Amino acid sequence: MPVLSRTGLGVKVCGLGHYLPTDLITNEDLSKLVDTSDEWIFPRTGIRTRHIAGEHEATSDLATHAAASALESAGIAPGEIDLIIIATATPDSPVPPTAVLVQRNLEMFNAAAMDLSAACAGFVFAAHTGAAMIRSGLHQRVLVVGAETLTRMTNYQDRQSCILFGDAAGAIVLAPADEAGGLELRYSHVGADGRHADMIRVIAGGSRKPASAETVAAQEHFLTLKGSEVFRCAVETMTEQGRRALDELGLSIRDLRWVIPHQANDRIMQAVGSALGADARQLVSDIATVGNTSAASLALALSRLRERGETLQPGERVMLLTFGAGSTWGCQVYEQT
Ligand code: UT7
Repeated sequence: MPVLSRTGLGVKVCGLGHYLPTDLITNEDLSKLVDTSDEWIFPRTGIRTRHIAGEHEATSDLATHAAASALESAGIAPGEIDLIIIATATPDSPVPPTAVLVQRNLEMFNAAAMDLSAACAGFVFAAHTGAAMIRSGLHQRVLVVGAETLTRMTNYQDRQSCILFGDAAGAIVLAPADEAGGLELRYSHVGADGRHADMIRVIAGGSRKPASAETVAAQEHFLTLKGSEVFRCAVETMTEQGRRALDELGLSIRDLRWVIPHQANDRIMQAVGSALGADARQLVSDIATVGNTSAASLALALSRLRERGETLQPGERVMLLTFGAGSTWGCQVYEQT
């Protein structure tokens, strides 16, 4: 059952930030590693370059930078945060949670801290969870970060997957919407279908198949994907979720200023945008210089819009659509107040 409201769910985004590591991998760099080219990659994915974490950077470092920037934009002190949720499929290590490392880095010692795993859809799942915590009254200021270093589990001998992924973090601060200002959540829905569990996966390194010299030799610690199956499923699911949200909110596509699909592949986004009837000004594609940054992608795209001076006016709305391994998916609609 989706959580929705024609007047607002009582939760708003009051801070936004992102971080991109400085090193880049270009299509030309990839063409030296595998049999590919810019002529193949760009038309099929819309990607030209991706950022890659430095040797000494891990997911918590990226998340810390993005979180610091979101706190600053919210004008909120670290001690005011009472819950930290880090959405990631690439934690620094399985234990401890990456969220406690971010907590330590920013001295947010009045907060509970946890990681949430929903692959590329993780950010929407985390924002959904954070919003539910605020609506319940159990928490007041929730830091939600999508942070990913997927390049650390990318096989640079697999030309189908290595062209896609980049590292990044995007963060928001959620608060009760009792004062004007900020992006108020109007609709939030998440879902999953475990029948697609094998579509995108990392075979080894967990309890089913612990990491060993054999699993590393067999390259089972890398992420594998069934590209065309993911493509089709992502388009169908995000389109369906977008239509459902509009229908349940009683809105038309023209009532949205922006539609931001998960930045997985520009062709996926264009197909979703066209199925929903979004025009080129509404559909936000921010993949060309960052690639697919998984759980970071939506907060990153929103934060980069703001960085370019593009902001919503009061009454304007943005729809976020997501799809990831699992399969997992979600949709949220926010309105500027
Ligand atoms: O966020 C969730 C994770 N995201 C994804 O899983 C990505 C979703 N899928 C995609 O973005 C696209 O399916 C890909 C970009 C991965 C692949 O594009 P495609 O248009 O679906 O290509 P394809 O897999 O159908 O492959 C077509 C051909 C194949 O050659 P043959 O068998 O026709 O001779 C591939 O081997 O293109 C070949 N190919 C490449 N050629 C040059 C696949 N990757 C490459 C490459 N460079 N990088």
